[in-house]
Amino acid sequence: MQSPKKVLIIGINGFIGHHLLQRILNDTMWSVTGVDIGDDRVTPYLNDKRFAFHKADMTKERALIESLVKQSDVVLPLAAVATPQLYMTQPLRVFELDFEENLPIVRHCVKYGKRVIFPSTSEVYGMSPDSEFHPDHSPFVVGPTSKIRWIYSTSKQLMDRIIWAYGRDHGLDFTLFRPFNWIGVGLDSLEAGQARVITKFLGNILRGEDILLVDGGIQRRSFTHIDDSMDALMKIIENKNNIASSKIYNIGNPKNNHSIRELAEMLLALAPSYPHFKKQAHKVKIVDISSQNHYGDGYQDVQNRTPYIENTRKDLDWDPRVSMQDALERTYQAYMAQLEKNAPVEL
Ligand code: UGA
Repeated sequence: MQSPKKVLIIGINGFIGHHLLQRILNDTMWSVTGVDIGDDRVTPYLNDKRFAFHKADMTKERALIESLVKQSDVVLPLAAVATPQLYMTQPLRVFELDFEENLPIVRHCVKYGKRVIFPSTSEVYGMSPDSEFHPDHSPFVVGPTSKIRWIYSTSKQLMDRIIWAYGRDHGLDFTLFRPFNWIGVGLDSLEAGQARVITKFLGNILRGEDILLVDGGIQRRSFTHIDDSMDALMKIIENKNNIASSKIYNIGNPKNNHSIRELAEMLLALAPSYPHFKKQAHKVKIVDISSQNHYGDGYQDVQNRTPYIENTRKDLDWDPRVSMQDALERTYQAYMAQLEKNAPVEL
């Protein structure tokens, strides 16, 4: 892949950030500057000459962040809280990090004429009644203010709208991408608090604990393997003929639409093939729990979430290829590789 690129990734030690770093170093000649408060996932790349890492707290090192934006071609501000349990327990932290701390970065991109690629979210569509969520047509439906879960959705939505307005009125070059339940190794970090559903279930199986199905597990998600997600994101960064500028893309796999109960059953069915997971899997039962008991007051759920991806497909010449079965197998295999090396596993 050709120009740009001096790529700045803020929050590079996170799930998306560290996978993206790996892809860029493997597949391109671009250089990457990364910022993060943690470094465990980027340590293997620290000796690469095309990678410069700043172990820093973006909320404190504001001058550093501004100067890094100034020196880059394209900026990905990926630092965010993205686990529903934390929307419930630390809603203000969600607003402060996901919105307040990212806004100055967007403004630096406006000031210095840099391209920004911002992680929006499938959660902006909320409980939209559409059978497929369309980035240019679907309405956003969220619950009342007391349903605190929606603070993430609305913080991200406001940022989307601000970026859009900067694009229209100040010429900001941007792309918004919306991940739909991306899955793969390294999805969650224990430091970040509670994990998302697949990480939780894998951890349950590893330790022989019951799997808790919230409200019967009939709610559906479209799970997208990180390898497919990275294919799309790399094309957005490449931005051939400026195709991705001023666009919004869902990045998801509508063919991998499954209920949470199906996810639990598929993971349990696969467990016997992976020795570390096999050990205690026979003890695991699938147990129902109410959302009230699991998340407390203020939780509301999305019953079905399927992305419209025809524009992503066409503009980026991209197609998600990893089936659900394959995605789960790849995830198990990657965790097995870590367990076999006695590496710390965040499950
Ligand atoms: C996620 C997060 O908000 C973000 O990571 C992201 O923006 C977005 O959706 C996405 O990845 O597309 P959600 O899908 O609700 O939200 O997050 P999970 O924690 O993975 O939960 C999925 C479903 O599993 C929910 O219905 C939840 O109630 C259920 N669940 C979760 C269980 O049944 N048991 C559990 O132990 C955990």
